[in-house]
Amino acid sequence: MRPEYEKLVKDALAAKKRAYAPYSRFRVGAALLASNGKIYKGCNVEISTYALTICAERTAIFKAISEGDHHFKAIAVVSDDPGYTPPCGACRQVLMDLAGNIDFLMVNGKGKVKVLKMRELLPHAFGQKNLERTRKKSR
Ligand code: THU
Repeated sequence: MRPEYEKLVKDALAAKKRAYAPYSRFRVGAALLASNGKIYKGCNVEISTYALTICAERTAIFKAISEGDHHFKAIAVVSDDPGYTPPCGACRQVLMDLAGNIDFLMVNGKGKVKVLKMRELLPHAFGQKNLERTRKKSR
């Protein structure tokens, strides 16, 4: 694995320590690598009404966007699940919209890493292009 990805996995593990998951007890950490080399960490933050909970991946990317970064290479995600932790549907859409076809690194309990492209996780994604096409038509 690329050395920059090894660091990303370590940062995702560190981010998991900050997980706030008193309801599910499912702790998740994410680390997002921007094209300029910066890493944005994120964890899941749960809310008592459940639905307002935010996943680790979205915490990381919203942090990055709010700091002015818009170009990304990869995101690593870890949890205490012995298997791999795939992103939920909402995170797939958000990552595809805001980061595009980046590498998604899933880490299992043994530290084995599986890398998938976002397009593999969300084929046939809806996106800005769909909105633009209808705008052109109605002009
Ligand atoms: N969760 C994440 O943070 N990322 C994922 O990829 C899967 C699920 C969180 C949301 C919730 O706090 C808990 O895991 C259980 O669903």
